[in-house]
Amino acid sequence: MAGLNQYEARLRSEELRSQLNYHNYRYYVLDTPEVSDAEYDELMDELRAIEREFPELITPDSPTQRVGAEPLQAFGVVEHRLPLLSLSNCFNDEELRAWHRRASDRVGHGEFPMTSEPKIDGLAVALVYEGGTFVQGATRGDGQRGENITANLRTVKSIPLALSGSPPSRFEVRGEVYMTKSGFEAMNAERADRGEPLFANPRNAAAGAVRQLDPKVTASRPLSIYVYQLGWCDGPRPESHYEVLAWLGDMGLRPNPAARRHDTLADAADRVSWWGHQREQLDYDIDGVVLKIDDTREWDRLGVVGREPRWATAFKFPAQQRTTKLRAIHVNVGRTGALNPFAELEPVVVGGATVRMATLHNEGDIHRKDIRIGDTVIVQRAGEVIPQVVAPVTSLRKGDEQVFVMPSECPSCGTPVLKDPAEAAVYCLNTACPAQQIRLLEHFASRGAMDIEGLGERMAYTLFREGLVRDIAEVYELTVAQLAALERMGPKSAENLVAGIEKSKERPLTNVLFALGIRHVGFETARLLADHFGSLEGVLAASIDVLQEVEGIGPVVAESIASWTSRSENQDVVRRLLAAGVRPQHSPPPPSTQLLAGLTIVVTGRLETMSRNEAEDRIRELGGKVGSAITRGTDLLVVGEEAGSKLPRAAQLGVRTADEATFARLLREGRAALGESPPTA
Ligand code: IVH
Repeated sequence: MAGLNQYEARLRSEELRSQLNYHNYRYYVLDTPEVSDAEYDELMDELRAIEREFPELITPDSPTQRVGAEPLQAFGVVEHRLPLLSLSNCFNDEELRAWHRRASDRVGHGEFPMTSEPKIDGLAVALVYEGGTFVQGATRGDGQRGENITANLRTVKSIPLALSGSPPSRFEVRGEVYMTKSGFEAMNAERADRGEPLFANPRNAAAGAVRQLDPKVTASRPLSIYVYQLGWCDGPRPESHYEVLAWLGDMGLRPNPAARRHDTLADAADRVSWWGHQREQLDYDIDGVVLKIDDTREWDRLGVVGREPRWATAFKFPAQQRTTKLRAIHVNVGRTGALNPFAELEPVVVGGATVRMATLHNEGDIHRKDIRIGDTVIVQRAGEVIPQVVAPVTSLRKGDEQVFVMPSECPSCGTPVLKDPAEAAVYCLNTACPAQQIRLLEHFASRGAMDIEGLGERMAYTLFREGLVRDIAEVYELTVAQLAALERMGPKSAENLVAGIEKSKERPLTNVLFALGIRHVGFETARLLADHFGSLEGVLAASIDVLQEVEGIGPVVAESIASWTSRSENQDVVRRLLAAGVRPQHSPPPPSTQLLAGLTIVVTGRLETMSRNEAEDRIRELGGKVGSAITRGTDLLVVGEEAGSKLPRAAQLGVRTADEATFARLLREGRAALGESPPTA
C-alpha cells in the first residue's frame, strides 16, 4: 500500500471493505467460509494500514470498527417506534390448542399456516438499517424504550454492518443476541484459569456482554444473533412471515435456518414436540418454540391483548434451571478416595423432575463460585446429567450464610486427608477405608465391570457392615449359607447371587481391568491396556515408561496405573482374584470388523434408526474415526434430517455425503458400499 494517493487509497479501502464484509458473512452468517483465516487477516491488515494513514476514509460499516469503540459513561435511551411485545405462553398441548382455537375464531377458518422457530434464551435487540447501513441497535428495555447499545452490537460479527441486495431505505429488524454453549464453556474455562468469577449460564453471559459500557469487552465475548422479526419498514415487504425471514436472509442478516412453515396445527405441534427432544443437541439454549401466524396481514386484524399479540405464542419447555435453598453441604468418599462434596437442597422441580441433591464437584469449585451454606442457588438439570449447583444468587444473601470448609479428616475412617494440588481434589489415602471399599465393590460388580447381578449399592454396604467382605477379592469366598443369613435375603436370592459371582469369573480382560477401579482407568482405557498387553499379568508388570508407549495413554494415566500396581495390597488383591478362579481372557478385535479403518466420518442431523451417539459408536467399533467438524481430512458426511451448516460446508470442500440408507449399508459392507476398495496397508 506504500505510496497510495488519497484517491487510490479510497478505491482500495472500498474494495477491501466489501471483500471483508463478504467473507464475514460467509463465515459468521452462512458458516461456510471461502478463505482461510490467514487470508482474511491479510486483507484486514491491509485495510487497517490504509485507515491508519487516511483516517478520514474510515466508515461506520468498516470491519475494522468491530473491535470496539471507546467506553461509554452510560447508555443513551432509544424510543422504539413500534413497541417490542412479549409473548403469551403455553405449557402443554391443551393450552396450545386453546390458543389456536382463539386465533382461528378470529381468522375465520380452522387451519391457517404458521411459522415455528426455536425460542432462544438470549437478549432481545432491535436493529435499525438506513440505506443498507447499520445505524442503531437497542435493547428491548421496557418494550417502549430501550438502551442504545449500537457500539456494542457493532462488535457482533453476525450483525452485518452493511446489507447486500436492495434493502428497504429504512427499517428495523428484531432478533435475539445469544452465546453458544460451546463459546460459553470455553469462556468460563478461561475465566476460571484467570481466577475470575464465572457466569451462571450463556444467557447471563450474553446479557452481561451486551450491556458492557466498554465495547472492547463485548468484542471479546463470543456472541451471535438470530433475527426473528421485521419491526417497522419504509417500503414494501413480503406478506408471509416465513418469506420475510428468507428476505432478511437475502440481505445478509441471519434468520434461524431451523424455522419452518406448517399448514396445520397438528404439523406445528409435531415440530414443537420434536424440539422438546432435540433441544439438547443444539449449541444454544432454547426455552421453547415460538409459533406465529404466517400471514402478517392477520397480525393487524388480530391485534394485541395487553402486551401479548394474539397472532403468536410461545410453547415453553420445562425450565432446566431453577433457584432453591442450599440447606447443607455433605461429603462422600468415592472409590478412589476422593472426597466429593454435594449439596442438600430444598426440593425443587427442574426440567420436570424433583431435585433434592446436586453435585458440587470439588472444594475449589465451591469457592470459585462462592457458594455458601444457606445461599439461594441456581440449580441445573440438563438432559441426563446429574443436577448441578451452578451459582449462588448473591443479591438474596442475608448475612448468615456459611463458607464451606472441607473436613481435614475422612468422614468415613477418620484418616487425615491429603490435597492433590494438581487436581484441586482432596483424598483419603487409607485404601482400607470402608467408604472407599464399599464404593469400589459397587463399581467392581457393576455393568461393564464384573457385572454381578444383585450386588448393588445396598448389598455392597450390607456385606461390609456384616464383615463378610473386606475387599473385592473376598467376594469370591462368599457362601450361600452366609448370604442366606442376611436380613431380607432368602435362600433363593442367596443362591442366585453366588451363581452370579461364579459367572463373573469369566469376564473379559477389559472388564476386569476396568473393575479394579484404578484412578483414570475408565472402560476405554481398560480396552487400550487389554489390546496392548493381552493379560492381567502383562499390565501388572509394565513400568511407567512401557505404559506410556501405549497409544492413547498419557503420562498422568500411566503414572496412576504404575502407582496402583506398585502397591503390595493391590498386588495381593489381584493374586487372590486369580487364585479364586477369575480368568480374564482377551481376544483382540478380528481385523474383519475393521470395515471402516482409515475413514474419518462426520454425522450430522437426526437419523431415523439410531441416535447420533449410537451411529458414532458403530463407526468407532468398526475402526473408523469420528470427526466433529468438516475439514479437508473428512472422508464422508452422513446426513440425517434437519442437517445444518455442515452440508454446504461439505459441498464446498468436496467432501462426499451419504444418506442414512447408504450409511446402514456402509456399516454392513464397509467401503464397498461407497464403491471403494480398502486402502492397501
Ligand atoms: S417473536 C410478538 N421469536 O422471546 C413477538 N421472540 O417473550 C415477539 N424470543 O423478548 C417476539 N426467540 O426476545 C420471537 N424466534 C423468536 C424468539 C423470540 C426468542 C424472545 C424475544 C422476546 C421474548 C418474547
